[in-house]
Amino acid sequence: MADSPRHPFLHGLSKHRGAPPTVVVIFGASGDLTARKLIPAVYNLSHDNLLPADFFLVGYGRKPIPDEEFRTLAAAAIKEFSRREPDAGVWDRIAAHTSYVAGGYDERAAFDRLAAHIDAIEKRLGREVQRLFYISTPPSVFAPIVLNLGASGLAAKHPGRPHHSKVIIEKPFGRDLASARALNETIRSVFAEHQVFRIDHYLGKETVQDLLVQRFANAIFEPLWNRNFIDSVQITVAEEAGVGSRGGYYEQSGCLRDMIQNHMMQLVALTAMEPPVSLEAEAVRDEKVKVLKAISPLTIGPEGNVARAQYAGGMIGGKTVKGYVDEEGIAAQSATETYAAIRLSINNWRWQGVPFYLRSGKRMARRVSEIAINFKCPPGTLFAEGGRFDLAANTLSFQIQPDEGLSLILNTKIPGLETRTQPVKMSFRYATTFGSNTPEAYERLVLDAMIGDGTLFIRGDEAETSWKLYTPVLDYWRSVGREGLDTYAAGSWGPASSDALLAKRNHAWRQP
Ligand SMILES: NC(=O)c1ccc[n+]([C@@H]2O[C@H](COP(=O)([O-])OP(=O)(O)OC[C@H]3O[C@@H](n4cnc5c(N)ncnc54)[C@H](OP(=O)(O)O)[C@@H]3O)[C@@H](O)[C@H]2O)c1
Repeated sequence: MADSPRHPFLHGLSKHRGAPPTVVVIFGASGDLTARKLIPAVYNLSHDNLLPADFFLVGYGRKPIPDEEFRTLAAAAIKEFSRREPDAGVWDRIAAHTSYVAGGYDERAAFDRLAAHIDAIEKRLGREVQRLFYISTPPSVFAPIVLNLGASGLAAKHPGRPHHSKVIIEKPFGRDLASARALNETIRSVFAEHQVFRIDHYLGKETVQDLLVQRFANAIFEPLWNRNFIDSVQITVAEEAGVGSRGGYYEQSGCLRDMIQNHMMQLVALTAMEPPVSLEAEAVRDEKVKVLKAISPLTIGPEGNVARAQYAGGMIGGKTVKGYVDEEGIAAQSATETYAAIRLSINNWRWQGVPFYLRSGKRMARRVSEIAINFKCPPGTLFAEGGRFDLAANTLSFQIQPDEGLSLILNTKIPGLETRTQPVKMSFRYATTFGSNTPEAYERLVLDAMIGDGTLFIRGDEAETSWKLYTPVLDYWRSVGREGLDTYAAGSWGPASSDALLAKRNHAWRQP
């Protein structure tokens, strides 16, 4: 294998984080996620020498695919989607241990064949391997797969060998509180919680992990991180893309389910949680659940704290684009929200009175995800110009994508004979400081699951707590159809009702 310089983020990693011999089984291995993210993640882990020497990859799906063809598909996926140019030596090593098993997701006999396939791998190797099942199928078959893993003995908890088998479950984890609870019950009937890794790929992103470092490792932020110094928090996940060909999927989902309930609530939890006693999974997740539980219930209507809207036609990047209801597969009377804005109140000692504003939408002016912490302004009387107080609030923003980084807005004197101020931005970009070849979120998450570190995964009670907050809103919206559904022009920053939500508290959305 060609020697490649190790990314600075990976220094020292393999010393502390060796994964045991593992077979990774991907359910839904002919799918989009497998090709775009999972296979390239495995490849890059191997490239960085982070896979165990005895590593096996097994694809599973309904369509029969010969082993050789699966290896060809996997090699093509690496060529197209890996962050690195493929290195034949690295791929050959994985390819020699890659195979495919065909079978239905609710077909018990097929799971027995899968078990026999894994047994044969172990026999050839002469030792046991840990089994990591990655469920990368549509959610309709999550439960049958879990139940069949249980029935075929593949999920055995093996007392004394707690990491013997593990399962990664893709999103969406339920579509409301009842379905999330039902899925948790099914999972718990087969696996113990420490074997379960509910994925939210946002948690694998560098800036999201850096949030904890910035908060707890910097003396200039840690003491200020509370209601005495912070005025408000704004979290934005804006997409430029529309629904494209995924209209059918999006009609069943909408913005609240697709972005806010899961990814954005993880960002809220990490921004607002108390310092955990350690960075161990349970310590971090306990604090996240506590803060989610402290959020006041949402209310709807003129005095409420929720807004929703659908994009109308508009211009993006100089091109005219269609409105949502004119997209392929969308009903003219669709009430699905493509944008939602929420004002959250966290009812605890640290955050009393500090609004957390969340907004997410498709077809917005620019693709950007960020967390912006707006600090309170100092008195400012020294710098009042003509009696007008004109200082900008210090804003610390974590840019999650694109161009991951951090910036801080400071008031600065404009050079010259008068004392006039101007806000300036101090920025740090990961790509500039550490190089651009940063590991992808899925690499970190697959490695963590192999090792058994659940810190960057969602615990069952966390998923349920978040659904508990949003299910009444979803139920209400379903009951009123299009009533109260606002619109916004494609290419804008969202609807007027969202601006009004902030104006009620004398706030305004910042331009990310
Ligand atoms: N794609 C992404 O970028 C992305 C991002 C985040 C999360 N996810 C989540 O990851 C999971 C997989 O996503 P994906 O985009 O790879 O899905 P996909 O391509 O639609 O489906 C994956 C595989 O599942 C099987 N399948 C498809 N429809 C099925 C059905 N109705 N019943 C049973 N099996 C079916 C197919 O394999 P066989 O026909 O060979 O069985 C298919 O190749 C989903 O839960 C998705 O929400 C995806």
